[in-house]
Amino acid sequence: MTLALRTLRLIAFRSYARADLDVGANVIALAGPNGAGKTNILEAVSLLAPGRGLRRAQPTDFARTQAGVGWSVTATLDTPTDPTLLWTGAEPEQRRMAKRDEKTVSVLSLGRIARILWLTPALDRVFVEGPAERRRFLDRIALSFAPEHAEHASRYEKAMRDRNRLLKDGISDPRWMSALEAQLVEAGLGMAAGRRTALAGLLAAQDEESAFPRADAVLEGEFEEESPDAETYRARLFDSRPRDGLAGRTLFGPHRSDLAVRYAAKDTPASACSTGEQKALLVSLILANARALTAQTGAPPILLLDEIAAHFDADRRALLFAEIETLGAQAWMTGTEWALFEALGSSAQRFVVKEGEAGSVAEPA
Ligand SMILES: Nc1ncnc2c1ncn2[C@@H]1O[C@H](COP(=O)(O)OP(=O)(O)OP(=O)(O)O)[C@@H](O)[C@H]1O
Ligand SMILES: [Mg+2]
Repeated sequence: MTLALRTLRLIAFRSYARADLDVGANVIALAGPNGAGKTNILEAVSLLAPGRGLRRAQPTDFARTQAGVGWSVTATLDTPTDPTLLWTGAEPEQRRMAKRDEKTVSVLSLGRIARILWLTPALDRVFVEGPAERRRFLDRIALSFAPEHAEHASRYEKAMRDRNRLLKDGISDPRWMSALEAQLVEAGLGMAAGRRTALAGLLAAQDEESAFPRADAVLEGEFEEESPDAETYRARLFDSRPRDGLAGRTLFGPHRSDLAVRYAAKDTPASACSTGEQKALLVSLILANARALTAQTGAPPILLLDEIAAHFDADRRALLFAEIETLGAQAWMTGTEWALFEALGSSAQRFVVKEGEAGSVAEPA
C-alpha cells in the first residue's frame, strides 16, 4: 500500500509562474543553487496537509509576488484506498481552500487523506532553542497520529488567553472564570494525553537496527510530574488564581512542559551533541514517526526532507537513503549539489531546479 504523489502542479506559487512535475519514483531528489526554488516545491507539497506549511508561512506569502492572481497546488496521489485528486489554493486576499476530486472539502480534512512529515533546516536548532519550539515539534508529531490534537491545542490556547485576560482585568464573573478553567482542564488533558501517546509510539518505533542513534525523550515540567486528574487540575487552577493574577498569566499546565531528548548511547542531552549528531537524532525521530504511522494507517507517510544531506558525511547519507528505501515512503529531498545524492540508487528520480523569470523544474537531460 502506498501514499505517493504522481503529479504536482504549481500555479502562481512563490517563485513559480507554473511548474509541472510527473513523479514516477518513491525517492525524489531536487538539486539547484540557493534561491532556485527547491524548498518552494516541498512547501507546496506540505500544503496538501492542513496548516501553514513547512515554513509556517503567512497565508499571503504563497501567492507569487506581483502576479495578482490566486495561487494553487494540484496533485494526483495514490492513496491506500483510491487515486485522489487534491487541490489547494487561494484567490488574492482570500483564505486557503481545498478540493478533493473537484469537490470542496475543509482544509482540516486534508489531514485524513495525506499524512506528510517534514524536516527542515529551521528544526536543526530545536534542541538548543527554547521549550516552545520543542513543544511545537512534539505537537506536530502528535497531530500526525491524531488529527484532533490540533483542536485540543487551539481550544486550550483560546481558553488560556481568555483566562489570562480575566486575571488581568479582575475576576468580575467567577462563574465565567470557572467555565474557562473547565475548558482549560478538558483541552489540556486531551493535549497532554495526545503528546504522551505520540511520544510512547515514537519511542517504541525506533529501530534498534537503525544506523541512526536512538533518542530517549521524556516530557518534563511541573504538569508532567503531577499528572493531575481533572478534579485535581481544576482545583489547582482555582487555588492559583491569586498567584496567576500577580504573574498576569497561567503558570500551571501543559503549555509549560518541555521535551527533553537525550542521545541514548552516549547518555548525553541532545543540546550538548554536535550539529550532525543532533540532525541524526531528528532523523531517528522522524523515521520512527513514519514507521509508527505506517503501522497505524497501513501506508508510510510522505516525507519532505529539506537540505537533509547537508550536515551528514557521505557514509551517513548512504545509510539515510538506504533506510528511506526500506521504509518505502515517498521521500522528497533537496540539496544544492548532485554530489550529495551520489549514493542514491538509479531508481530515484532527479529534478534540476533553476531560478529564472518563472522558475523551472525539469529532469536532467
Ligand atoms: N511569493 C513569492 N513570489 C515570488 N518569489 C518568491 C515568493 N516567495 C519566495 N520567493 C522566492 O523564492 C526563492 C526562494 O526559493 P526557495 O526557498 O525554494 O529556494 P531554495 O532553492 O530552497 O534555496 P536554498 O538552497 O537557499 O534553500 C527566493 O528567491 C524568493 O525570493
Ligand atoms: Mg531551501
